[in-house]
Amino acid sequence: MTITGAGGQIGYALLFRIAAGAIVGPARPVRLRLLEIPQGLRSAEGAALELQDCAFPLLRAIEVTDDPRVAFDGCSIALLVGARPRGPGMERADLLAANAGIFGPQGAALNDVAADDVRVVAVGNPANTNALIAAASAPDIPAERFSALTRLDHNRALGQLTTVLDAGPDEIEGVTIWGNHSATQFPDVSHARVRERPVRDALAARLGGLEAADAWLDDVFIPRVARRGAEIIDVRGSSSVASAANAVIDHVRDEQSGTAWTSAGVVSHGEYGVPAGLVSSFPVTSHGDGYRVIEGLHVDERSRARIDASVAELVAERDAVRDLGAL
Ligand code: NAD
Ligand code: LMR
Repeated sequence: MTITGAGGQIGYALLFRIAAGAIVGPARPVRLRLLEIPQGLRSAEGAALELQDCAFPLLRAIEVTDDPRVAFDGCSIALLVGARPRGPGMERADLLAANAGIFGPQGAALNDVAADDVRVVAVGNPANTNALIAAASAPDIPAERFSALTRLDHNRALGQLTTVLDAGPDEIEGVTIWGNHSATQFPDVSHARVRERPVRDALAARLGGLEAADAWLDDVFIPRVARRGAEIIDVRGSSSVASAANAVIDHVRDEQSGTAWTSAGVVSHGEYGVPAGLVSSFPVTSHGDGYRVIEGLHVDERSRARIDASVAELVAERDAVRDLGAL
């Protein structure tokens, strides 16, 4: 397993849980390769020393490098966490250009040296478009093996629902994050059920009617989930770390071991009118062999408009990186 940006915040929150078996379970040994840029190497090396000091029974090897071809050599799971953050005065186009310069070469290195069964998840932002760039740079790896992390948004949606419903997150099924991992995303409960009851009906019972339930969904739930990343930055002073690492683990574990329903950014084949080739978040399922879009759900007019708005942002990001020559 290769983790890029392993010397950063999310890397530090991820590594110890992975080494303890959180992704692959208690029976499979783990070999870690940590990729950093030269400025981040000492931090990654320090984390590697601490990993040794934990004496995790599953951890068989740790290697730290700043060479993507060494880092991805033979890897079966690649967690692309390292990315260029937006700096002062940086426009969105500058951010896309900087990250195209990271995810393009990493995609090319994965193409050349990763294991035949490699699966790749982009965590670093803009995650959907970074996944698209990496996939486009790896023509020999099926695009379906690349995904983008929207599980954090999915988990945030569950967390918000539990503040109103008298239920645990594991009793709620069928929540979907559509579109981009950004404030335009659409957290959707129209197909969600809590203990077999439609979530909207359960909310109505708690809040005093369907009108109140819809008002809470439109005015509180959707903006809260969609802007949670910004809220964390505002309150904490830096972006989410432990919750992001937790979501990476949930995403990869469920992709590998199977799940009936979650959300992930995957390559569109035109499902739900999302242009083919974009990496968009969808309702997905996995039988342990990768995420597939759950098809055939009814999408009403209001949901359609919200999905279209987020997909329009993905199209604009794709066009911007195409103009840069990164696709
Ligand atoms: P961080 O700045 O603490 O760590 C990033 C690390 O990446 C740094 O150590 C840096 O040296 C390294 N890095 C930069 N370029 C690299 C390259 N080319 N190769 C290898 N390593 C490289 O940031 P963080 O808090 O760990 O967040 C990492 C990324 O995850 C950010 O882009 C952040 O916006 C994103 N994020 C995504 C989600 C999500 O849900 N998709 C949630 C939270 C954060
Ligand atoms: C998050 O959702 O917490 C992050 O992607 C926010 C950010 O912009 O780093």
